[in-house]
Amino acid sequence: MTKSEKSKIIYKEACKVISGGVSRNTIFRKPYPNYANTAAGCYITDIEGTRRIDFANNMAALIHGHAFPPIVDAVIEQLRKGTAYTLASEVEVAFAKHLSSRVAGVERIRFVNSGTEAVMTMIKAARAYTGRPKIAKAEGTYHGTYDFAEVSQTSNPSNWGDVGGPNSVNLAHGTPKGVLDNVIVFPYNDIEKTIAILETQADQIACVIIDPVPHRVGLVQGTQEFIEAIYNWTRKNGALLVFDEVITLRVNYGGAQEKYSVKPDLTALGKIIGGGFPVGAVAGRAEVMKVFDPHEKNLLLPHSGTFSANPITMTAGYKAMEFFDREAVTKLNTLTEKAVDQIKAVVKLVDVPVSITGAGSMFRMHLRQTPPKTYREAYQTKEENAVINELLDFMYRKQKILMVNTFTCMLSTVMGQHEIDVLTEGLHKAFKALKPKIAKLKNSQL
Ligand SMILES: Cc1ncc(COP(=O)(O)O)c(C=O)c1O
Repeated sequence: MTKSEKSKIIYKEACKVISGGVSRNTIFRKPYPNYANTAAGCYITDIEGTRRIDFANNMAALIHGHAFPPIVDAVIEQLRKGTAYTLASEVEVAFAKHLSSRVAGVERIRFVNSGTEAVMTMIKAARAYTGRPKIAKAEGTYHGTYDFAEVSQTSNPSNWGDVGGPNSVNLAHGTPKGVLDNVIVFPYNDIEKTIAILETQADQIACVIIDPVPHRVGLVQGTQEFIEAIYNWTRKNGALLVFDEVITLRVNYGGAQEKYSVKPDLTALGKIIGGGFPVGAVAGRAEVMKVFDPHEKNLLLPHSGTFSANPITMTAGYKAMEFFDREAVTKLNTLTEKAVDQIKAVVKLVDVPVSITGAGSMFRMHLRQTPPKTYREAYQTKEENAVINELLDFMYRKQKILMVNTFTCMLSTVMGQHEIDVLTEGLHKAFKALKPKIAKLKNSQL
Protein backbone atom coordinates (compact mmCIF):
# COMPACT_ATOMS: atom_id res chain seq x y z
CA MET A 1 0.00 0.00 0.00
CA THR A 2 1.47 3.36 -0.98
CA LYS A 3 0.93 6.33 1.29
CA SER A 4 -1.39 7.97 -1.22
CA GLU A 5 -3.69 4.94 -1.25
CA LYS A 6 -4.43 4.85 2.48
CA SER A 7 -7.66 6.83 2.31
CA LYS A 8 -8.79 4.91 -0.77
CA ILE A 9 -8.40 1.61 1.05
CA ILE A 10 -10.14 2.79 4.22
CA TYR A 11 -12.99 4.26 2.17
CA LYS A 12 -13.48 0.91 0.45
CA GLU A 13 -13.87 -0.69 3.88
CA ALA A 14 -16.13 2.18 5.00
CA CYS A 15 -18.53 1.53 2.11
CA LYS A 16 -19.06 -2.02 3.42
CA VAL A 17 -20.40 -0.78 6.77
CA ILE A 18 -21.42 2.88 6.39
CA SER A 19 -24.02 3.83 3.80
CA GLY A 20 -22.10 5.60 1.04
CA GLY A 21 -19.01 5.32 3.23
CA VAL A 22 -19.80 8.57 5.10
CA SER A 23 -22.13 9.64 7.89
CA ARG A 24 -22.59 13.14 6.44
CA ASN A 25 -22.82 13.95 2.75
CA THR A 26 -20.99 17.22 3.41
CA ILE A 27 -17.64 15.42 3.47
CA PHE A 28 -18.37 13.09 0.55
CA ARG A 29 -15.82 13.65 -2.19
CA LYS A 30 -15.24 11.79 -5.46
CA PRO A 31 -13.57 9.38 -5.92
CA TYR A 32 -13.13 9.11 -2.13
CA PRO A 33 -12.71 11.49 0.82
CA ASN A 34 -9.37 11.85 2.58
CA TYR A 35 -9.25 10.85 6.20
CA ALA A 36 -8.03 13.44 8.69
CA ASN A 37 -5.05 12.65 10.86
CA THR A 38 -4.52 15.79 12.87
CA ALA A 39 -5.53 19.44 12.90
CA ALA A 40 -4.27 22.51 14.74
CA GLY A 41 -5.08 26.18 14.25
CA CYS A 42 -6.13 26.76 10.66
CA TYR A 43 -4.31 23.72 9.27
CA ILE A 44 -5.58 20.18 8.79
CA THR A 45 -3.40 17.21 7.80
CA ASP A 46 -4.78 14.01 6.31
CA ILE A 47 -3.42 10.48 6.74
CA GLU A 48 -1.49 10.80 3.50
CA GLY A 49 0.41 13.66 5.13
CA THR A 50 -1.05 16.46 3.01
CA ARG A 51 -1.51 19.66 4.97
CA ARG A 52 -4.20 22.12 3.92
CA ILE A 53 -5.45 25.48 5.12
CA ASP A 54 -8.95 24.99 6.45
CA PHE A 55 -11.42 27.60 5.20
CA ALA A 56 -14.40 25.30 5.96
CA ASN A 57 -13.85 25.05 9.73
CA ASN A 58 -16.23 22.13 10.07
CA MET A 59 -18.98 23.97 8.22
CA ALA A 60 -18.51 27.25 10.12
CA ALA A 61 -18.49 25.60 13.55
CA LEU A 62 -14.87 26.23 14.58
CA ILE A 63 -14.52 29.95 15.21
CA HIS A 64 -11.00 29.55 16.63
CA GLY A 65 -9.91 26.81 14.22
CA HIS A 66 -8.76 23.40 15.45
CA ALA A 67 -7.50 22.39 18.89
CA PHE A 68 -7.64 25.94 20.28
CA PRO A 69 -5.38 25.61 23.39
CA PRO A 70 -7.71 27.34 25.93
CA ILE A 71 -10.55 25.02 24.86
CA VAL A 72 -8.32 21.92 24.91
CA ASP A 73 -7.08 22.71 28.43
CA ALA A 74 -10.54 23.42 29.83
CA VAL A 75 -12.05 20.31 28.25
CA ILE A 76 -9.27 18.03 29.54
CA GLU A 77 -9.89 19.35 33.05
CA GLN A 78 -13.64 18.72 32.67
CA LEU A 79 -13.10 15.24 31.16
CA ARG A 80 -11.47 14.14 34.42
CA LYS A 81 -14.55 15.31 36.32
CA GLY A 82 -17.02 13.43 34.14
CA THR A 83 -18.66 13.98 30.79
CA ALA A 84 -22.41 13.80 31.42
CA TYR A 85 -24.48 13.65 34.57
CA THR A 86 -28.10 13.19 35.55
CA LEU A 87 -27.54 16.36 37.55
CA ALA A 88 -27.22 19.98 36.51
CA SER A 89 -23.75 21.50 36.10
CA GLU A 90 -22.68 25.04 37.01
CA VAL A 91 -20.94 25.75 33.74
CA GLU A 92 -24.31 25.56 31.94
CA VAL A 93 -25.59 28.48 34.02
CA ALA A 94 -22.45 30.56 33.49
CA PHE A 95 -22.59 29.93 29.76
CA ALA A 96 -26.32 30.77 29.57
CA LYS A 97 -25.62 34.06 31.37
CA HIS A 98 -22.82 34.87 28.95
CA LEU A 99 -24.98 34.27 25.86
CA SER A 100 -27.85 36.24 27.38
CA SER A 101 -25.53 39.18 28.03
CA ARG A 102 -24.42 39.39 24.38
CA VAL A 103 -27.45 38.41 22.25
CA ALA A 104 -30.52 40.66 22.55
CA GLY A 105 -32.99 37.88 21.75
CA VAL A 106 -31.70 35.58 24.52
CA GLU A 107 -33.75 36.23 27.68
CA ARG A 108 -34.09 32.53 28.40
CA ILE A 109 -32.30 29.60 26.78
CA ARG A 110 -32.31 25.82 26.56
CA PHE A 111 -29.37 23.87 25.22
CA VAL A 112 -29.72 20.93 22.83
CA ASN A 113 -27.29 18.90 20.71
CA SER A 114 -27.39 20.20 17.14
CA GLY A 115 -28.61 23.04 14.97
CA THR A 116 -31.26 20.72 13.57
CA GLU A 117 -32.56 20.01 17.06
CA ALA A 118 -32.49 23.73 17.89
CA VAL A 119 -34.60 24.62 14.84
CA MET A 120 -36.99 21.72 15.46
CA THR A 121 -37.43 22.69 19.10
CA MET A 122 -37.92 26.34 18.13
CA ILE A 123 -40.66 25.45 15.65
CA LYS A 124 -42.37 23.23 18.25
CA ALA A 125 -42.15 26.06 20.79
CA ALA A 126 -43.80 28.47 18.33
CA ARG A 127 -46.61 25.98 17.71
CA ALA A 128 -47.04 25.36 21.44
CA TYR A 129 -47.13 29.07 22.25
CA THR A 130 -49.54 30.10 19.48
CA GLY A 131 -51.59 26.91 19.25
CA ARG A 132 -51.24 27.12 15.45
CA PRO A 133 -50.01 24.40 13.08
CA LYS A 134 -48.20 26.14 10.20
CA ILE A 135 -44.80 27.66 9.68
CA ALA A 136 -43.58 29.97 6.93
CA LYS A 137 -40.05 29.68 5.55
CA ALA A 138 -38.09 31.17 2.66
CA GLU A 139 -37.53 29.23 -0.53
CA GLY A 140 -34.08 27.60 -0.70
CA THR A 141 -33.10 28.09 2.94
CA TYR A 142 -31.26 25.36 4.81
CA HIS A 143 -32.40 24.96 8.42
CA GLY A 144 -31.15 21.43 9.16
CA THR A 145 -32.92 18.11 8.70
CA TYR A 146 -36.25 18.40 10.59
CA ASP A 147 -38.80 17.51 7.92
CA PHE A 148 -40.83 20.73 8.29
CA ALA A 149 -37.65 22.82 8.06
CA GLU A 150 -36.47 20.94 4.95
CA VAL A 151 -39.37 21.94 2.71
CA SER A 152 -38.29 23.68 -0.55
CA GLN A 153 -34.65 23.53 0.50
CA THR A 154 -33.60 22.47 -2.99
CA SER A 155 -36.59 23.33 -5.16
CA ASN A 156 -35.65 23.83 -8.80
CA PRO A 157 -37.10 25.39 -11.96
CA SER A 158 -39.06 22.23 -12.75
CA ASN A 159 -40.99 22.25 -9.46
CA TRP A 160 -40.70 25.64 -7.70
CA GLY A 161 -43.81 27.16 -9.37
CA ASP A 162 -44.76 30.83 -9.45
CA VAL A 163 -42.54 33.11 -7.37
CA GLY A 164 -45.68 34.86 -6.11
CA GLY A 165 -46.66 31.62 -4.33
CA PRO A 166 -43.83 29.08 -4.46
CA ASN A 167 -44.72 25.40 -4.20
CA SER A 168 -43.93 23.50 -0.99
CA VAL A 169 -41.48 20.96 -2.39
CA ASN A 170 -40.35 17.90 -0.46
CA LEU A 171 -36.63 17.23 -0.02
CA ALA A 172 -36.80 13.64 1.20
CA HIS A 173 -38.79 11.04 -0.67
CA GLY A 174 -41.77 10.00 1.43
CA THR A 175 -42.26 13.32 3.24
CA PRO A 176 -45.90 13.22 4.35
CA LYS A 177 -48.29 15.54 2.51
CA GLY A 178 -49.33 16.84 5.93
CA VAL A 179 -45.83 18.29 6.35
CA LEU A 180 -45.90 20.04 2.97
CA ASP A 181 -49.41 21.41 3.66
CA ASN A 182 -48.18 22.95 6.89
CA VAL A 183 -45.20 24.82 5.43
CA ILE A 184 -45.79 28.06 3.55
CA VAL A 185 -42.95 29.14 1.27
CA PHE A 186 -42.07 32.74 0.39
CA PRO A 187 -39.34 34.50 -1.64
CA TYR A 188 -36.65 35.93 0.67
CA ASN A 189 -36.26 39.72 0.79
CA ASP A 190 -39.40 40.30 -1.35
CA ILE A 191 -41.70 42.22 1.00
CA GLU A 192 -44.71 42.58 -1.26
CA LYS A 193 -44.91 38.96 -2.37
CA THR A 194 -44.09 37.58 1.08
CA ILE A 195 -46.77 39.59 2.87
CA ALA A 196 -49.34 38.65 0.22
CA ILE A 197 -48.45 34.95 0.70
CA LEU A 198 -48.60 35.17 4.52
CA GLU A 199 -51.98 36.94 4.31
CA THR A 200 -53.58 33.96 2.58
CA GLN A 201 -53.30 31.84 5.77
CA ALA A 202 -52.73 34.49 8.42
CA ASP A 203 -54.63 32.82 11.27
CA GLN A 204 -52.85 29.48 10.77
CA ILE A 205 -49.24 30.63 11.01
CA ALA A 206 -47.32 29.93 14.23
CA CYS A 207 -44.05 31.49 13.09
CA VAL A 208 -42.12 32.96 10.23
CA ILE A 209 -38.59 31.54 10.28
CA ILE A 210 -35.78 33.76 9.02
CA ASP A 211 -32.09 33.08 8.55
CA PRO A 212 -30.63 36.61 8.53
CA VAL A 213 -27.92 35.61 5.98
CA PRO A 214 -29.16 32.41 4.33
CA HIS A 215 -26.26 30.46 2.87
CA ARG A 216 -28.18 28.54 0.17
CA VAL A 217 -30.20 31.58 -0.89
CA GLY A 218 -26.83 33.01 -1.95
CA LEU A 219 -25.40 34.23 1.37
CA VAL A 220 -27.31 37.49 0.93
CA GLN A 221 -28.33 39.55 3.96
CA GLY A 222 -31.95 40.09 4.91
CA THR A 223 -32.67 43.79 4.38
CA GLN A 224 -33.69 45.98 7.32
CA GLU A 225 -36.99 46.72 5.52
CA PHE A 226 -37.76 43.05 4.93
CA ILE A 227 -37.11 42.01 8.53
CA GLU A 228 -39.16 44.96 9.85
CA ALA A 229 -42.03 44.17 7.47
CA ILE A 230 -42.14 40.54 8.61
CA TYR A 231 -41.88 41.60 12.26
CA ASN A 232 -44.77 44.06 11.88
CA TRP A 233 -46.85 41.45 10.09
CA THR A 234 -46.30 38.93 12.89
CA ARG A 235 -47.33 41.56 15.52
CA LYS A 236 -50.58 42.24 13.66
CA ASN A 237 -51.39 38.58 13.11
CA GLY A 238 -50.48 36.84 16.36
CA ALA A 239 -47.53 34.92 14.91
CA LEU A 240 -43.90 34.77 16.08
CA LEU A 241 -40.81 35.99 14.26
CA VAL A 242 -38.11 33.37 14.79
CA PHE A 243 -34.48 33.53 13.64
CA ASP A 244 -32.18 30.69 12.66
CA GLU A 245 -28.79 32.07 13.79
CA VAL A 246 -27.09 28.67 13.78
CA ILE A 247 -24.48 30.05 11.35
CA THR A 248 -24.97 33.79 11.60
CA LEU A 249 -24.20 34.28 15.29
CA ARG A 250 -20.58 34.78 14.18
CA VAL A 251 -21.48 37.87 12.10
CA ASN A 252 -21.50 40.37 15.02
CA TYR A 253 -20.80 40.12 18.74
CA GLY A 254 -24.55 39.91 19.34
CA GLY A 255 -25.30 37.80 16.25
CA ALA A 256 -26.78 39.00 12.96
CA GLN A 257 -29.81 40.24 14.93
CA GLU A 258 -27.64 42.96 16.50
CA LYS A 259 -27.99 45.17 13.40
CA TYR A 260 -31.78 44.98 13.07
CA SER A 261 -34.19 47.44 14.66
CA VAL A 262 -36.53 44.60 15.65
CA LYS A 263 -35.79 41.46 17.67
CA PRO A 264 -36.95 37.91 17.06
CA ASP A 265 -39.25 36.21 19.58
CA LEU A 266 -37.11 33.05 19.40
CA THR A 267 -33.61 32.30 18.12
CA ALA A 268 -31.99 28.98 17.23
CA LEU A 269 -28.24 28.76 17.86
CA GLY A 270 -25.58 26.12 17.13
CA LYS A 271 -22.15 25.66 15.51
CA ILE A 272 -19.68 28.08 17.18
CA ILE A 273 -21.36 27.96 20.59
CA GLY A 274 -20.17 24.34 20.95
CA GLY A 275 -16.47 25.21 20.81
CA GLY A 276 -15.97 22.23 18.47
CA PHE A 277 -18.45 19.86 20.15
CA PRO A 278 -22.03 18.98 19.08
CA VAL A 279 -24.43 21.71 20.18
CA GLY A 280 -27.61 23.65 19.62
CA ALA A 281 -29.75 26.02 21.65
CA VAL A 282 -33.18 27.55 21.50
CA ALA A 283 -33.57 30.92 23.15
CA GLY A 284 -36.01 33.77 23.26
CA ARG A 285 -38.36 36.04 25.11
CA ALA A 286 -39.04 34.86 28.65
CA GLU A 287 -42.77 34.81 28.08
CA VAL A 288 -42.51 32.53 25.03
CA MET A 289 -39.84 30.32 26.62
CA LYS A 290 -42.31 29.51 29.39
CA VAL A 291 -43.60 26.74 27.11
CA PHE A 292 -40.63 24.66 28.39
CA ASP A 293 -40.93 25.61 32.08
CA PRO A 294 -41.84 22.64 34.31
CA HIS A 295 -43.02 25.10 36.99
CA GLU A 296 -46.00 25.89 34.78
CA LYS A 297 -49.25 24.18 35.80
CA ASN A 298 -50.05 23.63 32.17
CA LEU A 299 -46.72 22.59 30.65
CA LEU A 300 -47.13 23.20 26.92
CA LEU A 301 -43.93 21.60 25.62
CA PRO A 302 -42.27 18.86 27.70
CA HIS A 303 -38.62 18.84 26.67
CA SER A 304 -35.51 16.75 27.47
CA GLY A 305 -32.39 15.34 25.85
CA THR A 306 -29.86 12.87 27.26
CA PHE A 307 -26.78 14.87 26.27
CA SER A 308 -28.31 18.37 26.33
CA ALA A 309 -26.07 20.86 28.18
CA ASN A 310 -23.46 18.18 28.90
CA PRO A 311 -20.51 19.76 30.72
CA ILE A 312 -17.98 19.03 27.96
CA THR A 313 -19.91 21.00 25.33
CA MET A 314 -20.76 23.74 27.84
CA THR A 315 -17.13 24.10 28.90
CA ALA A 316 -15.83 24.19 25.33
CA GLY A 317 -18.59 26.50 24.10
CA TYR A 318 -18.22 28.95 26.96
CA LYS A 319 -14.47 29.21 26.36
CA ALA A 320 -14.96 29.65 22.61
CA MET A 321 -17.47 32.45 23.09
CA GLU A 322 -15.45 34.20 25.81
CA PHE A 323 -12.49 34.35 23.43
CA PHE A 324 -14.75 35.55 20.62
CA ASP A 325 -15.16 38.94 22.27
CA ARG A 326 -15.94 42.25 20.56
CA GLU A 327 -12.31 42.81 19.65
CA ALA A 328 -11.93 39.32 18.17
CA VAL A 329 -15.15 39.70 16.15
CA THR A 330 -14.02 43.05 14.70
CA LYS A 331 -10.54 41.74 13.90
CA LEU A 332 -11.90 38.66 12.14
CA ASN A 333 -14.49 40.64 10.15
CA THR A 334 -11.80 43.11 9.07
CA LEU A 335 -9.57 40.26 7.91
CA THR A 336 -12.50 38.84 5.93
CA GLU A 337 -13.13 42.21 4.25
CA LYS A 338 -9.47 42.27 3.29
CA ALA A 339 -9.77 38.76 1.80
CA VAL A 340 -12.82 39.78 -0.22
CA ASP A 341 -11.05 42.91 -1.52
CA GLN A 342 -8.01 40.88 -2.55
CA ILE A 343 -10.16 38.29 -4.33
CA LYS A 344 -12.12 41.01 -6.13
CA ALA A 345 -8.81 42.43 -7.38
CA VAL A 346 -7.84 38.98 -8.70
CA VAL A 347 -11.24 38.57 -10.36
CA LYS A 348 -10.66 41.88 -12.14
CA LEU A 349 -7.13 40.95 -13.13
CA VAL A 350 -8.09 37.59 -14.60
CA ASP A 351 -11.29 39.14 -15.97
CA VAL A 352 -13.70 36.37 -14.96
CA PRO A 353 -17.42 36.81 -14.25
CA VAL A 354 -17.27 36.14 -10.50
CA SER A 355 -19.16 38.02 -7.77
CA ILE A 356 -18.98 37.74 -3.99
CA THR A 357 -21.67 37.87 -1.28
CA GLY A 358 -21.51 37.42 2.48
CA ALA A 359 -21.43 39.02 5.91
CA GLY A 360 -19.05 39.12 8.86
CA SER A 361 -16.48 36.35 8.61
CA MET A 362 -18.09 34.39 5.76
CA PHE A 363 -18.27 34.89 2.01
CA ARG A 364 -19.45 32.98 -1.01
CA MET A 365 -18.30 33.25 -4.61
CA HIS A 366 -20.73 33.01 -7.54
CA LEU A 367 -19.95 32.43 -11.19
CA ARG A 368 -21.99 35.49 -12.14
CA GLN A 369 -21.07 39.01 -13.20
CA THR A 370 -23.40 40.55 -10.60
CA PRO A 371 -24.12 39.16 -7.12
CA PRO A 372 -27.39 37.22 -6.98
CA LYS A 373 -30.15 38.71 -4.81
CA THR A 374 -32.58 35.78 -4.58
CA TYR A 375 -32.58 31.98 -4.38
CA ARG A 376 -33.79 31.77 -7.97
CA GLU A 377 -31.00 34.07 -9.15
CA ALA A 378 -28.40 32.16 -7.13
CA TYR A 379 -29.71 28.77 -8.32
CA GLN A 380 -26.91 26.81 -9.96
CA THR A 381 -27.46 24.74 -13.09
CA LYS A 382 -25.81 21.34 -13.47
CA GLU A 383 -23.17 22.91 -15.73
CA GLU A 384 -22.42 25.59 -13.14
CA ASN A 385 -22.16 23.01 -10.39
CA ALA A 386 -19.70 21.03 -12.47
CA VAL A 387 -17.41 24.06 -12.89
CA ILE A 388 -17.68 24.94 -9.18
CA ASN A 389 -16.66 21.38 -8.34
CA GLU A 390 -13.66 21.70 -10.65
CA LEU A 391 -12.67 24.96 -8.92
CA LEU A 392 -13.04 23.35 -5.49
CA ASP A 393 -11.01 20.38 -6.63
CA PHE A 394 -8.28 22.63 -8.02
CA MET A 395 -8.11 24.46 -4.70
CA TYR A 396 -8.15 21.24 -2.68
CA ARG A 397 -5.66 19.18 -4.67
CA LYS A 398 -3.34 21.74 -6.25
CA GLN A 399 -3.49 24.68 -3.83
CA LYS A 400 -4.03 22.66 -0.61
CA ILE A 401 -7.02 24.70 0.50
CA LEU A 402 -10.21 23.23 1.95
CA MET A 403 -13.40 25.22 1.34
CA VAL A 404 -17.15 24.74 1.90
CA ASN A 405 -18.66 22.95 -1.10
CA THR A 406 -20.74 25.94 -2.22
CA PHE A 407 -17.45 27.77 -3.02
CA THR A 408 -17.69 29.49 0.35
CA CYS A 409 -15.15 30.39 3.02
CA MET A 410 -15.80 30.53 6.75
CA LEU A 411 -12.85 32.17 8.48
CA SER A 412 -11.45 31.57 11.95
CA THR A 413 -9.71 33.86 14.44
CA VAL A 414 -6.42 31.99 14.13
CA MET A 415 -6.02 33.03 10.49
CA GLY A 416 -3.88 35.94 9.41
CA GLN A 417 -2.67 37.79 6.35
CA HIS A 418 -0.51 34.86 5.25
CA GLU A 419 -3.49 32.50 4.91
CA ILE A 420 -5.45 35.18 3.02
CA ASP A 421 -2.55 35.67 0.62
CA VAL A 422 -2.30 31.92 -0.01
CA LEU A 423 -6.06 31.78 -0.64
CA THR A 424 -5.94 34.72 -3.04
CA GLU A 425 -2.98 33.30 -4.94
CA GLY A 426 -4.71 29.91 -5.16
CA LEU A 427 -7.89 31.47 -6.51
CA HIS A 428 -5.86 33.49 -8.99
CA LYS A 429 -4.48 30.26 -10.45
CA ALA A 430 -7.85 28.49 -10.31
CA PHE A 431 -9.69 31.30 -12.11
CA LYS A 432 -6.96 31.46 -14.77
CA ALA A 433 -7.07 27.70 -15.32
CA LEU A 434 -10.85 27.53 -15.57
CA LYS A 435 -11.57 30.90 -17.19
CA PRO A 436 -12.73 29.43 -20.54
CA LYS A 437 -15.18 27.10 -18.77
CA ILE A 438 -16.54 29.88 -16.50
CA ALA A 439 -17.02 32.26 -19.43
CA LYS A 440 -18.91 29.59 -21.39
CA LEU A 441 -21.62 29.20 -18.69
CA LYS A 442 -25.02 30.45 -19.83
CA ASN A 443 -25.64 32.51 -16.68
CA SER A 444 -22.14 33.90 -16.21
CA GLN A 445 -22.89 37.25 -17.86
CA LEU A 446 -25.96 37.89 -15.67
C1 LIG B 1 -28.67 27.87 9.08
C2 LIG B 1 -28.54 26.48 9.60
N1 LIG B 1 -29.51 25.99 10.40
C3 LIG B 1 -29.42 24.75 10.92
C4 LIG B 1 -28.36 23.92 10.63
C5 LIG B 1 -28.30 22.54 11.20
O1 LIG B 1 -27.27 22.43 12.12
P1 LIG B 1 -26.66 20.98 12.49
O2 LIG B 1 -25.86 20.55 11.30
O3 LIG B 1 -25.84 21.24 13.70
O4 LIG B 1 -27.81 20.08 12.75
C6 LIG B 1 -27.34 24.39 9.81
C7 LIG B 1 -26.18 23.54 9.48
O5 LIG B 1 -25.43 23.76 8.57
C8 LIG B 1 -27.44 25.70 9.27
O6 LIG B 1 -26.50 26.17 8.46
